[in-house]
Amino acid sequence: MQPRCVLNGSPSDLKSSFADLTDFCLEASILGSFSKFGYLLRSKLYGWDGNPSVAANTIRSPQAGTQNTGERHLTAVITGFSSGIGLATAAGLARSGWRIIGISGNKERCTHALKSIVSIRREDSGDESHPGENVFVYDASRQGGDCGALPPGISHAITANVAELSQIDEAVKIIRQNSSQIDLLIHCAGKIYQNMDFTEDGFESTLALHVLGPHLLTKTLLDVMTATGSYMPRVIWVSSGGMYAVPLDLDRLLYPNRYRYRAATAYAYAKRIQVELAEIWAVKLADSNRLAFSMHPGFVDTRAIREGVPAFTKLMKPFLRTPEQGADTLLYLATLSETKKLLALNGSFLLDRKPRSTSKIKSGIAPVSKKILTFDAIDSLVSGRGRSK
Ligand SMILES: NC(=O)c1ccc[n+]([C@@H]2O[C@H](COP(=O)([O-])OP(=O)(O)OC[C@H]3O[C@@H](n4cnc5c(N)ncnc54)[C@H](OP(=O)(O)O)[C@@H]3O)[C@@H](O)[C@H]2O)c1
Repeated sequence: MQPRCVLNGSPSDLKSSFADLTDFCLEASILGSFSKFGYLLRSKLYGWDGNPSVAANTIRSPQAGTQNTGERHLTAVITGFSSGIGLATAAGLARSGWRIIGISGNKERCTHALKSIVSIRREDSGDESHPGENVFVYDASRQGGDCGALPPGISHAITANVAELSQIDEAVKIIRQNSSQIDLLIHCAGKIYQNMDFTEDGFESTLALHVLGPHLLTKTLLDVMTATGSYMPRVIWVSSGGMYAVPLDLDRLLYPNRYRYRAATAYAYAKRIQVELAEIWAVKLADSNRLAFSMHPGFVDTRAIREGVPAFTKLMKPFLRTPEQGADTLLYLATLSETKKLLALNGSFLLDRKPRSTSKIKSGIAPVSKKILTFDAIDSLVSGRGRSK
């Protein structure tokens, strides 16, 4: 992104040009941009006061976009909601009254996270729809499970391995049993697989967790993501700045045995695909008033990087963002209500509330035809299911 240059403007024009120029230099530094200092500096320059929850609390309230739907709370499905950035996002949304349907792999973490979200909804938004102390956590690994009907508007959670497509099918069934409308879908589940691993369907796990599972979830929830009231439903992929290191190349993950496996590189390829898919989804959804984005949270102190890249995390410790800082752009995108701004951002890759270039080098820019071919290939992989290793 080029900075705007206003030489003879008003003081506010000059202030904004200074902010854009500083942001531009920060972005060029890469490490500075992704660090907590990048976040803090931008929050001062653009006046967010370094408070990530501001986005959730003030940009919109849950009922503001639902004039046609009475008292309905907006509903968000968030994968990877049980810790780190996903949990900070779920908490931020719950704080302004959103109903949360969380999905993640580990039952104990899932239950713990759901308990904290339910108590936030009670305390901060005065929502009393959740009965008693029980929380509802369903297991999507048990095929054919019936979760029964919950009281309307209740937050709940599903334990599912997002890399396993059969568990996504099951999770979708559970979601549909209790929700006729989903407003927001956030693909936040992610991890770096230290060793090459395969799913039951025979897909390489990094590809399955970050690309195939989210693609199937998006596809199968779309018919309950309709634009009702003034809120434009949206899908957000949590990608990574690691994707700058690699070009778009589905074959690297589809035929992993042809290449030497490197954990961080496999992760980068998957995160690159997420960004390109979000762009194509945005085009496909535009006619139905629905939106798609990808974003990068910066370097955030979470389990994923502590376990995935321990040496890097140790070295970068003083510069890492908090999960709440990492969640800020997600909350911003989830709660943004200005149609003009939303349409301008649709399909973009964002860091710190601003669209960023998706490539730092010319050879990293994929032609649109390649992006469409990749999208179609992924679409037929999840429709066809299963491949031999
Ligand atoms: N931290 C960073 O610096 C950074 C930078 C760029 C991008 N990101 C991305 O941010 C997202 C959130 O990660 P985080 O940093 O917040 O790490 P985190 O605290 O480890 O959270 C990861 C979340 O993903 C879930 N998850 C992992 N594998 C799963 C699976 N197979 N099925 C279902 N859920 C699964 C985890 O739940 P369970 O443990 O319960 O399965 C957890 O809720 C990831 O997509 C990550 O790639 C992080």
